Amino acid sequence: MLCGGQLYFNHHFISIIVMKKFTVLFAVAVALMLGSCQSSSQKSDATVETTDSVKTTLVAYFSASEVRATERVAKNLAKAVDADLFEIVPELAYTTEDLDWNDKQSRSTIEMKDSTARPGIANKVENMAQYNTIYVGFPIWWYTAPRIINTFLEQYDLTGKTIIPFATSGGSDMGKSGEDLKKASAPNANWILPGKVLNGNPPVDSLKVWVETLK
Ligand SMILES: Cc1cc2nc3c(=O)[nH]c(=O)nc-3n(C[C@H](O)[C@H](O)[C@H](O)COP(=O)(O)O)c2cc1C
Repeated sequence: MLCGGQLYFNHHFISIIVMKKFTVLFAVAVALMLGSCQSSSQKSDATVETTDSVKTTLVAYFSASEVRATERVAKNLAKAVDADLFEIVPELAYTTEDLDWNDKQSRSTIEMKDSTARPGIANKVENMAQYNTIYVGFPIWWYTAPRIINTFLEQYDLTGKTIIPFATSGGSDMGKSGEDLKKASAPNANWILPGKVLNGNPPVDSLKVWVETLK
């Protein structure tokens, strides 16, 4: 039989144990909550990092006519693939006369007749090493790429980089433009050929569909 003191003692003792258990449970719960907060804040930090991170895809383009057809496509493509955009700017701008394909003496005709012509470029991609995929855009000239694209490719070490050509034209397809560029100016790159003529200023969503077909 338990006397009053023992009863009080046992009751008190049980209360202490129950309280201790609660304290432990509470501590565990707090620790778990802190842990999940921390990992979710780590997660959100990582997301911010990814969003702000350095881009590994470049869209480089040359556009010469007043319409700037290739530039329009390049801008949408950069959005579609989340890429940096680089305009290949000629040292000497092409005038309307320079672009006259009916004139045998025009600058473009002379350059395109000479496969070794390498028109100068005024600007440079300073951080080429950061890119592993490069979309290269140009207007089709005489069924191939303008020689300034050869100049561009030959300025960098593109070994192992993935290069995807695209173009605009008056109706011609890519022809051998990609193969010509690969052979002459960047044989060590990983070319995805033939690339594509993207006429009619395709919207970002349809460019995304094209890019998916490359994978
Ligand atoms: C010198 C020259 C040659 C061209 N040769 C072709 C050609 O062989 N086939 C074709 O379909 N379009 C040809 N074009 C038309 C351009 O490819 C077309 O207008 C292109 O969309 C222009 O792009 P841009 O506005 O970015 O310069 C030629 C244009 C020029 C200036």
